[in-house]
Amino acid sequence: MTGRGTSGTGTPGLSTARVAASAPEPRSGIAPGLLADVRTRLGTGPAGPPDDAAVAAALRASGRVLGSDALVDLTRAARAELTGAGPLQPLLEGPGVTDVLVNGPDDVWVDRGDGLRRSDVRLPDADAVRALAVRMAAVAGARLDDASPVVDARLPDGTRLHAAVEPVAPAGAVIALRVLRQAVLDLPTLVAGGAVPPDWEALLTGLVRGRANLLVTGGTGTGKTTLLAALLGVVPPDERLLTVEEARELAPVHPHVVALAARRPNVEGVGEVTLTDLVRGALRMRPDRIVLGECRGAEVRELLLALNTGHDGGMATVHANAAEHVPARLEALAALAGMPRPAVAAQAAAALDVVLHLRRRAGARYLAQVAAVRLADTGELEVHPAATWDGPGSGGPRAEDGWQSMVRRWSAC
Ligand SMILES: Nc1ncnc2c1ncn2[C@@H]1O[C@H](COP(=O)(O)OP(=O)(O)O)[C@@H](O)[C@H]1O
Ligand SMILES: [Mg+2]
Repeated sequence: MTGRGTSGTGTPGLSTARVAASAPEPRSGIAPGLLADVRTRLGTGPAGPPDDAAVAAALRASGRVLGSDALVDLTRAARAELTGAGPLQPLLEGPGVTDVLVNGPDDVWVDRGDGLRRSDVRLPDADAVRALAVRMAAVAGARLDDASPVVDARLPDGTRLHAAVEPVAPAGAVIALRVLRQAVLDLPTLVAGGAVPPDWEALLTGLVRGRANLLVTGGTGTGKTTLLAALLGVVPPDERLLTVEEARELAPVHPHVVALAARRPNVEGVGEVTLTDLVRGALRMRPDRIVLGECRGAEVRELLLALNTGHDGGMATVHANAAEHVPARLEALAALAGMPRPAVAAQAAAALDVVLHLRRRAGARYLAQVAAVRLADTGELEVHPAATWDGPGSGGPRAEDGWQSMVRRWSAC
């Protein structure tokens, strides 16, 4: 032990998040003494998070709550402290919030979709940050302590939790929360917000409706998952979507989504369910479309196989810093599955129709290129640009060779 905090036992100071007087953010407004009392009454057993009724009963039993209005408010506040993200909960519930990051007690950041901004929320001290991280990990059913100092888990409401404590975070515990929200950025919103040129909207809709097999590419944080979710929102409602992801991120606005998420092996090294397993499994679950949230390993083989055997309308994202890197990237991933290069080229060219490549410049994320996937005369896999855009404020996109035929083929769909 390093002496920094105690794992899992007390939760010192969780309730005492200080919020600067000028802060616009709400605070939980529950007295630390009352919260401690409620915590004691609820017991410290390993049972799942207490529900509203249990919290309300504990509050009532404390004899310090008068009036049913106060009880409702306090129940909500107490539950946030006891089971949710404590002092971070109001930030997570704020409109448009995508990420909440805690680097230290006085170093809390929030992204409301327009970049990271420092928040006024403070935690009492470094021990409180660690205790909060440990408690959220426990709520997510995971362990976080000196022996297992990094956690990647999901809170009951779908929020993704990443946290690290000493010894891997020597300056003190750090927490990163990513909110799972229904895709707020639908295709028209992406167009209106300048992420997609208006000229391309009809083509994108046509590609989805026409069941093109699409690969969304770009660097980290360029908006691949966001665009993918928006495209899924265009899929006709009578189609059944099977999404496969490492950890659930996609929450498209669509009435028929079956989400599968991979599982890591447990500490004994058993119980792993890989993306490859899930793509295979998804194919047997009567999908109208297979969606692979992020393709980053050997599962590319199953994806290409599926798309080449009648499962059209499939979509996936792949990390690539430029559209012309996509062939090499696919070959590298497929090599992990033992596929030789010429086989990857042939399969990918047959399976994939269009690459949608995203870029990020000066904080703006935008669709920079629409490209066709094909097999060159040399037998190499080729991603051939059909239109290119330099982003918001740069004027319209430039059509390249092949744009007209792409539009003719897909726009009318
Ligand atoms: N067009 C956009 N406008 C505003 N925020 C966006 C846009 N696209 C993505 N984001 C935000 O940027 C972050 C990263 O996006 P994400 O789609 O997860 O990227 P990737 O999948 O490429 O890593 C998310 O918080 C997301 O909400
Ligand atoms: Mg992503």
